[in-house]
Amino acid sequence: MCGIVGYIGTKDAKEVLLDGLARLEYRGYDSAGVALMEKDGTLSIEKQVGKIANLRNAVFRRFHNQCFTIGIGHTRWATHGGVTKENAHPHLSASGRIALVHNGIIENYMTLKQYLLKKGYTFVSETDTEVLVHLIEDFYKKEGNRNLQSAVMEALKVVEGTYGIAVVCSDEPYKIVAARNGSPLVIGIGEGEMFVASDVNALLPYTRNVIYLEDKELVVLKSENYKAYDLDYQRIDKEIVRVEWDLSAIELGGFETYMEKEIFEQPEAISNALRGRVHVEEGMVKFGGLNMTDDELREVHRIVITACGTSWHAALIGKYLIERFGEIPVEVDYASEFRYRNPILKKNDLVLVISQSGETADTLEALREAKRKGVKVLGMTNVVGSTIARESDGGIYLHAGPEIGVASTKAFTNQVASLILFAIYLGRLKNMSLYEGQRLLKELSTIPEKIKAILEQKSLIMDMAKKYSESKNFLYLGRGFNYPVALEGALKLKEISYIHAEGYPAAEMKHGPIALIDEFMPVVFIAPKDALYEKVVSNIHEVKARHGKVIAILSEKDEHVLKYVDDVLYIPQTFEEFSPLLTVVPLQMLAYEIARLRGLDVDKPRNLAKSVTVE
Ligand code: G6P
Repeated sequence: MCGIVGYIGTKDAKEVLLDGLARLEYRGYDSAGVALMEKDGTLSIEKQVGKIANLRNAVFRRFHNQCFTIGIGHTRWATHGGVTKENAHPHLSASGRIALVHNGIIENYMTLKQYLLKKGYTFVSETDTEVLVHLIEDFYKKEGNRNLQSAVMEALKVVEGTYGIAVVCSDEPYKIVAARNGSPLVIGIGEGEMFVASDVNALLPYTRNVIYLEDKELVVLKSENYKAYDLDYQRIDKEIVRVEWDLSAIELGGFETYMEKEIFEQPEAISNALRGRVHVEEGMVKFGGLNMTDDELREVHRIVITACGTSWHAALIGKYLIERFGEIPVEVDYASEFRYRNPILKKNDLVLVISQSGETADTLEALREAKRKGVKVLGMTNVVGSTIARESDGGIYLHAGPEIGVASTKAFTNQVASLILFAIYLGRLKNMSLYEGQRLLKELSTIPEKIKAILEQKSLIMDMAKKYSESKNFLYLGRGFNYPVALEGALKLKEISYIHAEGYPAAEMKHGPIALIDEFMPVVFIAPKDALYEKVVSNIHEVKARHGKVIAILSEKDEHVLKYVDDVLYIPQTFEEFSPLLTVVPLQMLAYEIARLRGLDVDKPRNLAKSVTVE
């Protein structure tokens, strides 16, 4: 979840690094730093706690008239050691000649630290990373201070854990050595310049030609060329991939925050997920990359979906959808539980992993565990070329476009839309009729317009936010397809507004949360007209009887419960299976407006990271 950027070339490295770090800030942001090197090998380090702006000010104050041709930078999200300047990256070797930035966790760092302490190395930080830089220097010295590449390779052979690293050395001021194992790293190929980053976003203003490093690969970057190796010094030919994402797609485009932009992009994002896949006349869905034949899919007896965070909420909706349309039993597991639980997987099981970033460590390890057990794994990711996308047997891309706001919005709705498509696809392989396929797909095609109608209620939602922004607790209740939406609504609120919120299946309220209800407790009911509507209405009465404040998400024209609710937001009518695509939108907007009223940075909420690449 930390971010790495490295540059070698003729531009001023400090400019490129700070610009790249700002683009990566969403990945992790409690501190940041750069190592900058001049042509003669003079190496300078600057680190700051807090946002990239602090680092930018410090760098420009200190080096305003200096130009650097090579450098590495890092934004940190603390794992080992608190948020301090000492713990921020880059870390320096004892001699001050080697600087390193690192994403991931060195698991055997205690053993290595003991070894290095005995050899007389001293440590200035509490991080696992500092062990690695000393270890590299140890090998560098053994080899007569000549070869950074082999010192890094030898050090990586004794390291256990995950890493994406970039290393520079003042004795070799014309190269960057970068390597990966478990933490993403991408190389940008320019003309007379090379880049390395943990995320392609950092490179887009400079180049679209990139190479994705695989685990246990190392690359040596010089301004004119790059060479890739495995850890046994064998050269590897890497494919250069062209990135098609538009830079404007990751800029704000008139919105104040990325999160708001992404909420408002949902109609277009869903259209992109449906484009080319929905064939209404045939009542069919077509996918390009499943890599499973229809016969193989017909043989699937059970699907296990595994994911984290918001993606896990989408997975829960996927269970309802696949069981209903696809007639296949589905289990949903947190990836972090799945990977350590020794899950029982059988021959005709299929594992589906869902991840916006395609890099979440727990989800990736769950995928690998499933593959070790010999079952097929499909990946549902947003980031093309991400590790999960590459390691899955086949998959479905979300086509939501880059999502920058830490709290996931458009990726969630595209996950649900993609799960709907997948469930209909499975249904049509079995008993779903042509008519039913047509009926569902026709309705699905109207969803983007229906979301637009909800987005137009922004001012109403802002007024509602004003009423509730000082509340200390919230409860979100829904049933059936909208039970996971209750969880997601509560998660959105707590992530960005820091208000405690719980999501619950509405009928479970009477087994606990009802004790919390008093006149200060806003309860958000997700109650569109569906099969369970009447039952949810009974729950609304129960809350009102205890003087709770009721905010209801209702289907348009529903006036039946108006006298029992304090506030209402209407959504257009749709099939109950598709209703999460609509009901979640006002909840995203409500959380957003409340957080803004509380003066919070919604794109970078405290303690959270966009992509959690450590377990
Ligand atoms: C982090 C993010 C969440 C996200 C979760 C899973 O916690 O803050 O917004 O839902 O990771 O991420 P993924 O990329 O795997 O969907």
